[in-house]
Amino acid sequence: MINRKIQNILVTGGAGFIGSAFIRYLLSPAVNFSGVCVNLDALTYAGNLENLKSIQSDVRYVFEKGDICQENLAATVCIKHKIDTIIHFAAQTHVDRSIDSPQAFLETNILGTFQLLEVVRKQPHIHFHHVSTDEVYGSLGPTGHFNELSPYQPNSPYAASKAASDHFVRAYQNTYNLSTCISNCSNNYGPYQYPEKLIPLVISNCLAGKKIPVYGNGGQVRDWLYVEDHAKALHLLLQNGRTGETYAIGGNAQWSNIDLIGQIIAISAEMTATPISDLQKLVTFVSDRPGHDVRYAIDHSKMSAEFGWQPHTLFLDGLRHTIAWYINVYDRVQRANLKIDVLAH
Ligand SMILES: NC(=O)c1ccc[n+]([C@@H]2O[C@H](COP(=O)([O-])OP(=O)(O)OC[C@H]3O[C@@H](n4cnc5c(N)ncnc54)[C@H](O)[C@@H]3O)[C@@H](O)[C@H]2O)c1
Repeated sequence: MINRKIQNILVTGGAGFIGSAFIRYLLSPAVNFSGVCVNLDALTYAGNLENLKSIQSDVRYVFEKGDICQENLAATVCIKHKIDTIIHFAAQTHVDRSIDSPQAFLETNILGTFQLLEVVRKQPHIHFHHVSTDEVYGSLGPTGHFNELSPYQPNSPYAASKAASDHFVRAYQNTYNLSTCISNCSNNYGPYQYPEKLIPLVISNCLAGKKIPVYGNGGQVRDWLYVEDHAKALHLLLQNGRTGETYAIGGNAQWSNIDLIGQIIAISAEMTATPISDLQKLVTFVSDRPGHDVRYAIDHSKMSAEFGWQPHTLFLDGLRHTIAWYINVYDRVQRANLKIDVLAH
């Protein structure tokens, strides 16, 4: 085991869905963290400091508002807080938005990652962990899994921008002999996700009685990883991930979109005492997304072999917990007479 010490860590995109789960985990009693955790986030539409309310007054936590693309900003933050570890979540993340307006994806996901790599090139004592996606590998047929050796075949502007950022991380590690590590994970789910992504969108629309759009025939298959299992995997990798290596992280939970939507409807109906047929009527098939990948699945045996890591949360348990969390937030939002699109906020 490498047993790298994390003293002072910079988390980019820590106000987003996965970054905030990682910070909450790092500062929880489960981790004996005694350094400083700096969250650098531009607070785009997807970033929300409410996600960090439970830890905002922790003396180990510091928030720095800023854009990772801004030259010298991250470098100054790293010097100011004596950073020795960066974990990089900040990104534009929604595939549909990347189809409508790809430029922001090139800027944040490629140029933003480049700016951070330049920081590490000039401050080479810093270990850099890059959080990436299985979407860089394109689409699987009916069988098989992606692993660390799968060829890159991105099919959306989002996936292409993440693929480019992975390549830059690898190239910087190789060229400048930096300490870097990459992880490529499957679809995450859990509380605090902005309700444009499939699971929170379906839950929100069930609660609001709005149409539930289903792309094509809904047969696309995704592997679902509970966000807290992902946070634990990332903490393990920060300490023990081998420099220059890539690790695939998955949830062992493959579901077609249409079956997943059926589960969300059934659980939401039960939890809100709504007739299930009322929610089933909301399902509306719409034209498929252009370039839509058919199936993703991850073989995480490298993570298991090196660190004994497994995704512990059973999918239906994680889903029930997630739906209960959104119902709770929805009740609060309704009581305050807010709009449903602030559900995650
Ligand atoms: N959500 C998933 O299912 C999933 C799956 C695989 C990989 N990933 C990767 O994990 C990372 C985090 O994803 P997420 O779902 O938490 O994203 P998210 O969209 O919820 O959050 C992104 C965060 O980054 C911040 N941000 C965006 N642009 C920025 C910029 N230029 N400068 C500083 N901050 C900026 C936003 O304000 C937000 O807080 C991303 O790199 C994503 O590609 C996500």
